[in-house]
Amino acid sequence: MTRIDSTPTASTTATATAPFSTGALVHTGPGEAPEWWRDAVIYQVYPRSFADGDGDGVGDLPGITSKLDHLAELGVDAVWLSPFYRSPQKDAGYDVADYRDVDPLFGTLADFDELLAQAHARGIRIIVDLVPNHTSDQHAWFQAALAAPEGSVERARYVFREGEGEHGELPPNNWQSIFGGPAWTRVTAGPGARPVTGAEGETPGQWYLHLFDSTQPDLAWDNPEVREEFEQVLRFWLDKGVDGFRVDVAHGMIKADGLPDWDGTVSMVEGTEAGEEGTDPGAPEDGSTGAGNSGPMFDQDGVHEIYRAWHRVLAEYDGDRALVAEAWVEPLSRLARYVRPDEMHQAFNFSFLTTAWSAAPLRTVIASSLRANDEVGAPTTWVLSNHDVVRHASRLGLADPGLRPNGIFAHDPQPDEELGLRRARAASLLMLGLPGSSYLYQGEELGLPEHTALPDDVREDPAFFRTQGAEAGRDGCRIPLPWRADADGFGFGPSGKTWLPQPASYARYAADAQRGVEGSTYETYRTALATRRAERLGSGTLAWVEDYADSVDVVALRNRDVVVLANLGTEPVVLPRGTEVLVASDPVLTDRSADPQVRVPSDTTVWLRAL
Ligand code: NOJ
Repeated sequence: MTRIDSTPTASTTATATAPFSTGALVHTGPGEAPEWWRDAVIYQVYPRSFADGDGDGVGDLPGITSKLDHLAELGVDAVWLSPFYRSPQKDAGYDVADYRDVDPLFGTLADFDELLAQAHARGIRIIVDLVPNHTSDQHAWFQAALAAPEGSVERARYVFREGEGEHGELPPNNWQSIFGGPAWTRVTAGPGARPVTGAEGETPGQWYLHLFDSTQPDLAWDNPEVREEFEQVLRFWLDKGVDGFRVDVAHGMIKADGLPDWDGTVSMVEGTEAGEEGTDPGAPEDGSTGAGNSGPMFDQDGVHEIYRAWHRVLAEYDGDRALVAEAWVEPLSRLARYVRPDEMHQAFNFSFLTTAWSAAPLRTVIASSLRANDEVGAPTTWVLSNHDVVRHASRLGLADPGLRPNGIFAHDPQPDEELGLRRARAASLLMLGLPGSSYLYQGEELGLPEHTALPDDVREDPAFFRTQGAEAGRDGCRIPLPWRADADGFGFGPSGKTWLPQPASYARYAADAQRGVEGSTYETYRTALATRRAERLGSGTLAWVEDYADSVDVVALRNRDVVVLANLGTEPVVLPRGTEVLVASDPVLTDRSADPQVRVPSDTTVWLRAL
């Protein structure tokens, strides 16, 4: 497994005294993970962009099933499927019209059953996405709410309110949608309501709340009928055999009493302000990065009661089913409240995702994450990319490695592709060496960059439209995957069609161009996952390597018998003699002396056997 780019004249393995001394354990770990999700590597499949089975240019469930061998070979433990339910696709399926059916775009319920069975046959668990904060405006409940009068039980399932101002012409409060624009839409008065257009003869009536697009009305979670319905939805998928749920906007379902005004801003990539350019941005002691959404619409204490109820539902089923919170909440101690023993099982660690590529803040966020989760007995999760953020291979190639824009336009400063990929591989290897559970986003195992030159007329993300084009939005990280370098559409499907255009550079990243190629991003991920499993790193420990505990360039930690060392500085790091390189994110350097020493180049992570 050792990868050296010059001919070594002697083995890099030595049996001298332990070359690294470590400080006190920051995290002891569960020893063995009693439940599968505590140390799992979970791979996010974004169905419309993973693989197309029927040739319409949009990925689908049969397409996913046809690629399960890729995921098994990669070595992931579980797959999280973004929504594939019936939906008008105004927010790529996060606008659900029927929670118990598959959208024809993606296949059928039978296709889902087949996917689940085939995944389980390969030892891969399946987590599905649950979108409880809002429905689609095409959901039967919202259609019934519009058809019914003010004050009806149908309207009580959503957040309808009278407007402010003499004639109710002002929205009930000043909240803004996360996608831009107001969070309220007004409808006409009385039964048979429609969104107000300003047409002559229209009588304006109530307003409804939507934290996201106007086609995504928020549900009223103080209504017991809503709670009962979602417990039934959970049971529907649990009965089918799913292994868990990723819960969308888990911090948003309960709003503060009285819906008070709020003057803060909200955004998908909250806290877009980065550290000062060219300097170490530092980090507060609690690991906060500005990734938390706050305000009276988020992280209200009332949400926890919902998760306690869901925990009880899951506990009725065998097999350690899991709930994963998508909650943009900080500080980490506050996020940990979602994973208390009787609530959810995991929460995405967006503080980690949004930490700059800088040693001190990374150490801080790693330690704070472990500390906060240890307090409640939950595993820490780690994540670098998903379908809502600029892919980390591009994010880390920006001139300021702390920046996190909501998409990148062709006219924006462009990421350095080579540097970004190098750092992305190093960041991923650092992440996968940490104890806890790691999330991968489809295509990161290929090193895929963001598409930063999409023409505006192909964009679909509502964030682009609702900000009047001020934000590029998330389409650039949702490009259909390249499977074959020499095929139309890079082998995405049988017709060569793709719902978003792929950049020509994707030929270099295609799965078939990397499979079996030593040192490719794909093979490096594969080696890392196999080593992580063999060394039981997911259920392991963490102590900082003392020599680097305060380093501005190096993050170095020990997890069980493995030292993970990331060099973020500009100079190579010379390893002490007596180390064996197990995995390297890029080739290490070995001099040609009689007693050669290994050097870890800039922006490279290595896993070393600590002898
Ligand atoms: C979070 C999802 O990840 C995102 O894609 C979606 O737009 C919003 N929640 C609204 O459901």
